[in-house]
Amino acid sequence: MSGPILIFDSGIGGLSVLEHIQTKMPAKDIFYLFDNARLPYGDLAEQTLIDGCVALIIKQVAQINASVVVVACNTASTLVLPHLRKRLTIPVVGVVPAIKPAAQMTQSKHIALLATPGTVERAYTKELIREFAGGCKVTLIGSSELVLIAEEKAKRNPINLNAIKPILAAINGTDIDTLVLGCTHFPLLRQEIAECISHPVTLLDSGEAIAIRVASLLETINMSAKGKMNKVGRLTAGFTKKIDKGLALTLADYGFEQLECVSVDS
Ligand code: DGL
Repeated sequence: MSGPILIFDSGIGGLSVLEHIQTKMPAKDIFYLFDNARLPYGDLAEQTLIDGCVALIIKQVAQINASVVVVACNTASTLVLPHLRKRLTIPVVGVVPAIKPAAQMTQSKHIALLATPGTVERAYTKELIREFAGGCKVTLIGSSELVLIAEEKAKRNPINLNAIKPILAAINGTDIDTLVLGCTHFPLLRQEIAECISHPVTLLDSGEAIAIRVASLLETINMSAKGKMNKVGRLTAGFTKKIDKGLALTLADYGFEQLECVSVDS
């Protein structure tokens, strides 16, 4: 229980969560596990996703003696959290699309959820909307293409806004005033997304909320950075598939010191 925080995502989406966790807990070591061999998750069958994520995360938790698991992926969180919690004794934190704050914030009572095709289809998401956004019209937009565009950005390849505009076409010309970024990849395209929407819209994600939850858990189990304020946490990344040079450079900019391959076999 004394090891690093394990952050998990299919790809670079968890970086939008990592930034918030680092701000709150700069001294804590972090291991970021990328299941990039199976990206995009939004197109995977539910059972495939559950089995693959659970096996990979359980193995890595044991390997690094993780203190907390952060499933920094909405698509996986909507399915795997109960399965992980059954198998692990350490805390498991997931991401929930920011539907509730969006419903509280909207003036027009028309919000949109931009997520992966898997997330927008999930019973979990429908329940979230029923429970917290009953008084709102909710436009659902599912896109794996946008996930891949975010990956390209992280590889330092140029982004064409004309590829993003059609994905967001359902927003323009409407009274939608609040857009939930319900995939952790999308805050990394915040600026590009805003540029493709022709009227003012508030973009909401869950990165800070997760960091607050993780910080409170670590304090509760008495493993905060107290007494080690001068230490800077060590960042390690593990991949299920070899990454290209552009992404390695981006990760170096984030402060990752070590990149390693992780086997998907249990
Ligand atoms: N970053 C992930 C999410 O939050 C999923 C991206 C994917 O489709 O692999 O949903």
